[in-house]
Amino acid sequence: MLEFARRMLFPMTKSQKFPKGFLWGAATSAYQVEGGNRNSDWESWKVKAGRACDHYRRFEEDFDLLKPLNLNAYRLSVEWARIEPEKGKFDAGEVEHYREVLKALKRRGIKPLVTLHHFTNPLWIAGQGGWESPSTISYFESYVRYVVTQLADLCDFWVTVNEPWVYLSEGYLYRRWPPEKLSPAAACRVGGNMLRAHRAVYRLIHEIQPRAMVGIAYSLGYIRPPIPLKANLAAWWERSFIRWAGAQDFIGVNYYRSITPFGSSLPKTDIGWEIYPEGLYRVLVELKGCRLPIYITENGLADAKDEKRADYIRGHLDSVWRAIQSGVDVRGYFYWSLLDNFEWASGFGPRFGLVEIDYGTMERRIRPSAKAYAEIAKRNGLG
Ligand code: FCB
Repeated sequence: MLEFARRMLFPMTKSQKFPKGFLWGAATSAYQVEGGNRNSDWESWKVKAGRACDHYRRFEEDFDLLKPLNLNAYRLSVEWARIEPEKGKFDAGEVEHYREVLKALKRRGIKPLVTLHHFTNPLWIAGQGGWESPSTISYFESYVRYVVTQLADLCDFWVTVNEPWVYLSEGYLYRRWPPEKLSPAAACRVGGNMLRAHRAVYRLIHEIQPRAMVGIAYSLGYIRPPIPLKANLAAWWERSFIRWAGAQDFIGVNYYRSITPFGSSLPKTDIGWEIYPEGLYRVLVELKGCRLPIYITENGLADAKDEKRADYIRGHLDSVWRAIQSGVDVRGYFYWSLLDNFEWASGFGPRFGLVEIDYGTMERRIRPSAKAYAEIAKRNGLG
């Protein structure tokens, strides 16, 4: 009787249903999965992706995996270095490749979200000063104009730049990524130029596609007090970017972990990131004031043994669900990543995939946790 009354009063609580039309997705980025990106700046750096997951040739096979996972959305990126391998020279064949990729998604009823810049640059862009140079803004504009014009009939959902703070801090403060600089002044220039580039292409994309949804994917971890200086800086920058970016149609949230100043007893992923689903709830509630739709554009963990992934996904989706109940307009969730892949300076060690890759044979195997996620996507709800 009590249960009956509870269900009548709170019909959603038991099943934790998500809103109708919620996007259930997985994410990748071009350089991390495609292989053979020889004109990209990372490919001439000391740690490189090489043939990565060979996804460039196996995308049909990989997209076949989306169906048994019951996913209806997929986040990918297009590689600037492929599309414009030399300044001003666009490669129609590579655009055709991405058209094939998007058509393959369409045939499977999967909505694409395309990222235009996910950390990598063409070598010629790096050679002329990379994002430190203001001319990169207009080069980025002409690349985006070309790509969006060519792909507009197949995609209307764009991320302009991925994690501006991570990009500038790894490359220009911590010296962990190319170009391995330690220069706060350069870091500021890079951040400023990326934001200007976002504003410029935001306008441009809307000229081409007035109804497009255009946003940035921000790296938004949960910083626990007392806040260490480095984490504080990260939190301050990335959250300020949301205000400085100007026009955006949605906010992309990449959430992985909490950061605790003196270590914590929280469970950790294979690469030591603290697992803290509640942090995602707090980040989402904090964003409520922005009054913009929110998509979780990345959330996932390195877990080679697949011991923690299913609970991690459930826990974070529970946070998303609670945030929605608190009035936050979250419209989709993209697990990072569909496939194990090249994890930047950490190489191929960390295993983030719903699908395991044997890099020797390139064989793909769906992990058990992926099936748990598939169930949630199928029911459009937890429980
Ligand atoms: C994010 C990146 C993504 C991936 C994950 C683990 O910062 O956007 O490419 O490397 O971390």
